[in-house]
Amino acid sequence: MRNRLAIEIAELKLTNPTMLAAGILGMTGASLREASVWGAGAVVTKSVGLKPREGYSNPTVAQVDCGLLNAIGLPNPGVSEFSEEIKEVKQSETPIPLIVSIYGFSTSEFVKVAKVAAEAGADALELNVSCPHVRDTGAEIGQNPSLVAEVVEEVKKNVLQPVFVKLTPNVADIVGVAKAAVEAGADALVAVNTVRAMAIDVETTRPILSNRIGGLSGPAIKPIAIRCVYEIYREVDVPIVGCGGVTSWRDAVEFMLAGASAVQIGTAISAKGMGVFKSVTRGISSYLKRKGFRSIEEIVGLSHRS
Ligand SMILES: Cc1cc2nc3c(=O)[nH]c(=O)nc-3n(C[C@H](O)[C@H](O)[C@H](O)COP(=O)(O)O)c2cc1C
Repeated sequence: MRNRLAIEIAELKLTNPTMLAAGILGMTGASLREASVWGAGAVVTKSVGLKPREGYSNPTVAQVDCGLLNAIGLPNPGVSEFSEEIKEVKQSETPIPLIVSIYGFSTSEFVKVAKVAAEAGADALELNVSCPHVRDTGAEIGQNPSLVAEVVEEVKKNVLQPVFVKLTPNVADIVGVAKAAVEAGADALVAVNTVRAMAIDVETTRPILSNRIGGLSGPAIKPIAIRCVYEIYREVDVPIVGCGGVTSWRDAVEFMLAGASAVQIGTAISAKGMGVFKSVTRGISSYLKRKGFRSIEEIVGLSHRS
């Protein structure tokens, strides 16, 4: 019998449309494999760069109403050391599509990191041009369509694997950035990274995060992410992966109706645990059956036709 949850995104074959989002548990081969055991259809690693990075001092995470605020500062061991974790995932008896999230402080750094990750066995690369709290990388690239195009074009020239581009919602015109990425060769888009935000402790009168400003994730940002996917879907022809506040099957279906072919899940894991992948997947499956749809493809972008 055909699996109605199966979906192909930029050559990656997923048995279901859920992915572990970048930065949540994706720092080791073991945790990436665990997400797959718990039912993720694909996994995205924590973002890795060329050199090891310590990240910011505590507090780096704060719980706020309807979401989570974080400014971790991209801590990671550097791509060479991280290659061992990539290999560990790929040696698993039940391999799962592995997307390695990368960042760089220049186009040439992005290219160097991409080559090492690709050689280590990444099935695809996700370019993090959207981190809102580390200077000179992330959103500072992602807010500039021509810089995004340059990074995508150079990475594409140097690796064979599909290239996903993760967009920032912290722009006036996300469609312009999405189009620039696709014209430069992006195979898929991920919308979105966290929303630039902050919180202040009224007792100490100080910003809560050590970095002062961070990124908001979780249910608070879902309507923003849905709007981004909806707007991008109208203008580009590559698959979109929705990300931001998915905690239930309803959220996932909403992203698909807006135009997403799959969803990434991050913050919900801290509240619901890894079981969230199975509960979302089962819920999507029941929805498709109840409504008489034979595949995910049939609902992708459906809200645009009504
Ligand atoms: C603690 C934490 C760390 C994150 N680290 C990364 C990262 O390394 N790279 C990246 O592209 N996104 C990172 N993100 C953003 C998530 O991948 C995701 O885009 C965002 O949290 C929205 O999805 P969610 O509401 O399901 O968490 C991080 C988010 C959180 C909460």
